[in-house]
Amino acid sequence: MLEIIQLSPKTDNGYFVVKYIKKVLKSPVFWIVIVYTIFLAYSTHIEDPKEIPYPIAQINFKTSRKYISSNYAASSRLGNHLFELASVLSISRDLNRVPIFFIEDCYHEKMWEDTNNLIPGLMNQFLVINGSVPRAIRRTSFHEKCCTFDNPSVLKENKDEYLHLKGTHYQSWKYFSQMRNELLGFLKTPVNNFFYLPVSSESTFV
Ligand SMILES: *[C@@H]1O[C@H](CO)[C@@H](O)[C@H](O)[C@H]1NC(C)=O
Repeated sequence: MLEIIQLSPKTDNGYFVVKYIKKVLKSPVFWIVIVYTIFLAYSTHIEDPKEIPYPIAQINFKTSRKYISSNYAASSRLGNHLFELASVLSISRDLNRVPIFFIEDCYHEKMWEDTNNLIPGLMNQFLVINGSVPRAIRRTSFHEKCCTFDNPSVLKENKDEYLHLKGTHYQSWKYFSQMRNELLGFLKTPVNNFFYLPVSSESTFV
């Protein structure tokens, strides 16, 4: 095996790769596969009925307040939602803007329901509007990577009445580190005692 590799000099290998790529690019089968893949990706994307946008939200412009909303990874799970909502709430306070939660499709509706069930106090902080984000609202890039902290102060320059962030996940505790007690207070008190679950002791933390 080693000999075979040594027998073919690098240049030959490179030449072979180029020749092979040219051959593949010329092959109709290759292009059919590409076109079909794109078609499939596109059709499965629009076929998810839960992603069909709700009618555009009716909102007022030129009000005396400023607002903030965000894109959310609404099809993700509850854990993600807690990060997203706590972070956006904290950012809204930094910027002195009213936080809005747009129910843009079925996924957002589920996100709203699930969060309301678990931690109603958190959702209550948001102005909930049933409808998609109007096109007139500019989308602003912020928090483009999942697990980093972007300083919200960079948004202070933005004077849009409705600031809509394109970020999702907001998976950094740094966004809401100062809100620990408040967030705990938002949780709903359980009605059962969970007697079958282990409890914390001096040496274990569960
Ligand atoms: C939001 O609007 C959609 C249709 O536009 C409707 O099906 C849904 O029930 C509404 N949700 C709430 C919470 O009002």
